[in-house]
Amino acid sequence: MNSQQIIDIENKHTSGVYAKQSLTIVRGQGASLFDADGVEYLDCSSGHGVANLGHAHPKVAEALYKQANTLVTLFETFPNDQRAMLMEKVTALMSGMERVFFCNSGTEAVEAAFKFARISTGRKNIIAAMRAFHGRTFGSLSATFNKKYREGFEPLLPGVSHVAFNNVEALAKVVNEETAAVILEVVQGEGGVYPASAEYIQAARRICDERGALLIVDEIQTGFGRTGKMFAVQHFGVTPDLLTCAKSLAGGVPMGAVLIGANVKNLTPGVHGSTFGGNPLSCAAGNAALDVIIGDDLPGQAAAKGTYLMEKLKQIQSPNIREVRGMGLMIGIEMKQKVTPYLKALQEKRIIALNAGMTVIRLLPPLVISYEQLDRVAEVLAEVLSTDSVADSRMETD
Ligand SMILES: Cc1ncc(COP(=O)(O)O)c(C=O)c1O
Repeated sequence: MNSQQIIDIENKHTSGVYAKQSLTIVRGQGASLFDADGVEYLDCSSGHGVANLGHAHPKVAEALYKQANTLVTLFETFPNDQRAMLMEKVTALMSGMERVFFCNSGTEAVEAAFKFARISTGRKNIIAAMRAFHGRTFGSLSATFNKKYREGFEPLLPGVSHVAFNNVEALAKVVNEETAAVILEVVQGEGGVYPASAEYIQAARRICDERGALLIVDEIQTGFGRTGKMFAVQHFGVTPDLLTCAKSLAGGVPMGAVLIGANVKNLTPGVHGSTFGGNPLSCAAGNAALDVIIGDDLPGQAAAKGTYLMEKLKQIQSPNIREVRGMGLMIGIEMKQKVTPYLKALQEKRIIALNAGMTVIRLLPPLVISYEQLDRVAEVLAEVLSTDSVADSRMETD
């Protein structure tokens, strides 16, 4: 199939809920993606933060092939070698988290965490942050802040409210004896790449402890090395009660998980479950992916490469840039204009980046990206972000 044929078929049969690009991607390798004509693009999106190991990692491919020939599916009531191994590996990533629930996506991990918080505390209310993004199913959508995602779907889950992010006083005012949990991202991703302060995350831990609420940290986008530590919350020495993760957990194979701390109670048979959760195929991919993340020190690589790229980006002299911020290889460039024309211009120069809201360019490259490739990203960004014609073209797209 050529590019146009692929596009035509997708346009005919798509549900309609995605704004489709006109670029057809058929192959990936490391930090590169290739279109149907073999043209190479530098991936600064990682499939929305999934491909931390890069694309087509041979260790993940090998594990998948082997496991596909051994056992693909098994309900979690039957113990399994791959699942047991992954349970050990993933819980070893954070001390104090001895148990884990496996599922298939980020939003499912958040749904599970909310159910666990309610059943554990016997309380109903959940407090999330303004600008938060936690997913698009009804429970997680209730905690997602932006109207754009919520409108048309009310009534959402009762008892979920939002409070200003990075504001200790505001949080202290709303957490009380009816609060089951506070859910926070350590770096708000979709909301615009806003890192939390150490003081805020540490205060959230203290406030939850004082009032008997659980702290849920959503590491779905920040997890597995993205910010320069295995989990972003580890920058601040805080252990949550529940930690949601997904995206790069299984090297690109769909998988989510909730790490569960000692304070979480009442998780008895039947309280929750998932047909595909913890299936041996995803677990095998997860085992291979974690071996690479740890063995190749991807968190350390993200820290060093993030600092390198950030320095280069901060040197770009452009009146169009408001701020560059981020943690590790999770970087946001806030522009003074809408970013769609910039993303298009970057794509024309064969760099695929993301937005985070209307005015932030979000960079989430694979953590295996090379320094040469980072130089290219910085060079192209310097050119595109300083070009007035790109800024001006917003008038046409507004
Ligand atoms: C912080 C955060 N939570 C939850 C989700 C939802 O994950 P999924 O799309 O796998 O349902 C995302 C997805 O971008 C996310 O970034």
